[in-house]
Amino acid sequence: MVMARKEDHLRMRMEHIRFGKEELERRRKSPVHVKAEEIAAQLKEHFHVYIVDPRLGFNQRSFRFWINRRSVGEEMEYSGLKLGHRHTVEAVIYILQGKGYSVIDGIKYPWEAGDMICVPVFAWHRHRNESNEDLLYLAATTGPFSMATGIAIYEEEKYPEYWIFAQKGEEAMKTLIPGGAELPPGGRVDLDQSRWKPAGKDGSEPTSAEIYYEQLAFAQEEERRRRAGKVIVKGKELRFGSTPMGRVAYAVEPRLGYHVKLLSTLIAEIPPERRSGAHRHIYEETNYILAGEGYSIIEDQRYEWKKGDTLVIPVFAWHQHFNTGKETARFLVHTNRPGMASTGYVHTQQGEPADF
Ligand SMILES: [Fe+2]
Ligand SMILES: [Fe+2]
Repeated sequence: MVMARKEDHLRMRMEHIRFGKEELERRRKSPVHVKAEEIAAQLKEHFHVYIVDPRLGFNQRSFRFWINRRSVGEEMEYSGLKLGHRHTVEAVIYILQGKGYSVIDGIKYPWEAGDMICVPVFAWHRHRNESNEDLLYLAATTGPFSMATGIAIYEEEKYPEYWIFAQKGEEAMKTLIPGGAELPPGGRVDLDQSRWKPAGKDGSEPTSAEIYYEQLAFAQEEERRRRAGKVIVKGKELRFGSTPMGRVAYAVEPRLGYHVKLLSTLIAEIPPERRSGAHRHIYEETNYILAGEGYSIIEDQRYEWKKGDTLVIPVFAWHQHFNTGKETARFLVHTNRPGMASTGYVHTQQGEPADF
């Protein structure tokens, strides 16, 4: 057992007190701008390039963002050709170039450039290019969050020596719950059974037994919810709407039927010579520039950007984007807003509204 001494307790307490101020400094020092040329050069050398990851020095802690390339004729799946892989992280994929399909838990989902894929947590999946040009896709996944909380499991078909659950039999291969959703004593909990009722159903305060039975039923219900969630976003079907930040189309978003708890993804557009709104918020945000050129003001700094660049917005930093080009600028925006909302920390402050 590790015994802390009196001075250790004092030091640890001071670390809590200093943390907030030190975190502001870490946010200020975290890299903001990753240029298209740097990524393109690395992508020639390797088939995937991590763009934003806490291991690269970014103060973004819950999700990472990277780009993948699959050449024509190249073996498609580094993780396997039958099952592919599965993981206890949320994953949102944006197809930049190419046409093909994903097989997710045995179901085939076709896609093309501009579409997005929301892979359900712990579903086996693999992606296949069927076009005669390179496949390029961007991925945002909550690996850093899962690793920090100790729940990260990546089961790859190619590396069975690292499987945690998949070798335990047929059932374990099929479930979206790590280890399988165990049934409570007496079998499946039927929410309508009279021996207990869902918490607060009749307006009364739930009993401890009711709360606990609901807890036992959670994994089975979660498995059902994960399988019921939407998987594909068709780029052509995005619905843009006017907001104080400009024209945005929410894409992978819990309120639109995607079963994500941490990530939210949207596309934002800025017409030529217009500006987005300014705002800041207590959640992480990564912007990938899909089209256009312009600049952003992030706190007191100006960053010139163009297609293929990435902007990592520090938590609670004011940001506003200006299109200086002749075409509509398009941003792929990933945030961890849903996760932060569940902790009660989301705070969005609107400044100057968009001018379109
Ligand atoms: Fe994956
Ligand atoms: Fe933002």
